[in-house]
Amino acid sequence: MSDNILEMIDITKEFSGVKALDEVNLKVKKGEIHALVGENGAGKSTLMKVLSGIYPFGSYTGDVVYNGEICDFKTIGDSEDKGIAIIHQELALSPYLSISENIFLGNEQQSKGIINWSITSQKATALMKKVGLNLDHNLLIKDIGVGHQQLVEIAKALAKDCKLLILDEPTAALNDEDSDKLLELLLELNKEQNLTCIIISHKLNEITKIADQITVIRDGSTIETMTKGIDEITEDKIIKGMVGRDLVERYPTRKKSVGDINFEIKDWVVYDPLDEDRQKIKNVSIHVKKGEILGIAGLMGAGRTELAMSIFGRTYGKNIQGTIMKDNQRIECGDVCEAIGHGLAYLTEDRKEAGLILSDDIRKNISLSNLWKISKRGVVNTNLELENAKNFREKLRIKSSSIFQNTGNLSGGNQQKVVLAKWLFSEPDVLILDEPTRGIDVGAKYEIYSIINELAEQGKSIIVISSELPEILGICDRIYVMNEGSIVGEMPIEEACQESIMTCIIQSS
Ligand SMILES: Nc1ncnc2c1ncn2[C@@H]1O[C@H](COP(=O)(O)OP(=O)(O)OP(=O)(O)O)[C@@H](O)[C@H]1O
Ligand SMILES: [Mg+2]
Repeated sequence: MSDNILEMIDITKEFSGVKALDEVNLKVKKGEIHALVGENGAGKSTLMKVLSGIYPFGSYTGDVVYNGEICDFKTIGDSEDKGIAIIHQELALSPYLSISENIFLGNEQQSKGIINWSITSQKATALMKKVGLNLDHNLLIKDIGVGHQQLVEIAKALAKDCKLLILDEPTAALNDEDSDKLLELLLELNKEQNLTCIIISHKLNEITKIADQITVIRDGSTIETMTKGIDEITEDKIIKGMVGRDLVERYPTRKKSVGDINFEIKDWVVYDPLDEDRQKIKNVSIHVKKGEILGIAGLMGAGRTELAMSIFGRTYGKNIQGTIMKDNQRIECGDVCEAIGHGLAYLTEDRKEAGLILSDDIRKNISLSNLWKISKRGVVNTNLELENAKNFREKLRIKSSSIFQNTGNLSGGNQQKVVLAKWLFSEPDVLILDEPTRGIDVGAKYEIYSIINELAEQGKSIIVISSELPEILGICDRIYVMNEGSIVGEMPIEEACQESIMTCIIQSS
């Protein structure tokens, strides 16, 4: 028998006439960590949904051979019964259930239809220990961070006696420290329990670190599989496979021309909406100049998103105090409409919850931020709307069947591009980008950086919040460091490096 636990042979999957997968082949050896890489929309998540029965047998062509048997999974339950578990790109935990309830959701510890809570908590505690989750199992999912949520997902998979674990971009929303911990855990489980893993990621440094084999797919077809120890594996080689050409520079250059201060926040104080005695933002004062790209660095939970959202139409926080100045005039941004009216835009870090109307198409999502630009006497000019959406689809290379595709069906990276298009359409003077390249492939990242540069060259002010320090260091002119709701450092890019930023954080903790 072959040493492959899985063979996906000539898998083709179409969505209303559009081929998402075109005779894809993937072979995974028992006990290995196999990475699946490719551009946004290449078909990675779709392939994994075929494997896990989310797209049932019969809805695709080709064979899925698992442990030597051709599979005919009709539901995700069928693949789980065989020991296959998938952790989706967007986590699928129930926010108002506890950690232990989530671990055993759909796999309840029961006898005669009655849940045995004592066994549930006992087993949950043991599983949590295994994945290094040192929390009370009664905590609700909504009250724990994304890093911890990922660990709950893994515990959940292990609870089902999983043999093949699929992780779709598990570290996209994690900071470096949490990512490292997660990858260490995978390596440990892989070694100790001989757990086979398929991991999808755009973070190529992680892939090269942990994967035994790497399969590259492009436009729904398999390009190549590289094996550690046999093939030479470099990030550049993977990128070439993904995008079909060399990508020499990761960060485009720009003609810098920084002008006067354009936007200023003074003595900004924000209280926790759930706990009115708790200050989340503590006397923050920041400014950004015309044509400047300003970075805000910090660890997860530093308060960067809360700062941005409280500025942008008071979408976060209670009892907000402080002043916003734009072009030396005090302005009020009581709600999102007012903020947009003053030329502000905020790209959320959470595209699915707050960035898109998933049941609407690309066209409508893009025009949302600036309807008055394409309307006359309160009526939207559909021709203008179509033309505008087509332009953005082309400019940002949003991979989709047309501008009428629902954003809920787009690949993660392409959803992100639609949110960006929406804010570009509002033609802001000050654009706040919160994790702008989360889930974006390397080629598209370069394109997004080029757009940011273009906006800066036009004299716009850009504020970039990012957990990826190389990104902040690669594109910004000046950096603020934030920790525990305060600004704890400021430095021009010439003086900034990973160490100097971390030093600011550590010294202020
Ligand atoms: N339910 C659906 N209906 C229509 N088209 C779909 C559907 N699901 C996926 N697609 C299309 O299939 C293609 C592949 O999408 P998929 O989500 O597999 O990409 P991906 O490689 O996971 O990308 P990313 O890195 O952005 O997550 C995309 O062009 C997407 O628009
Ligand atoms: Mg995907």
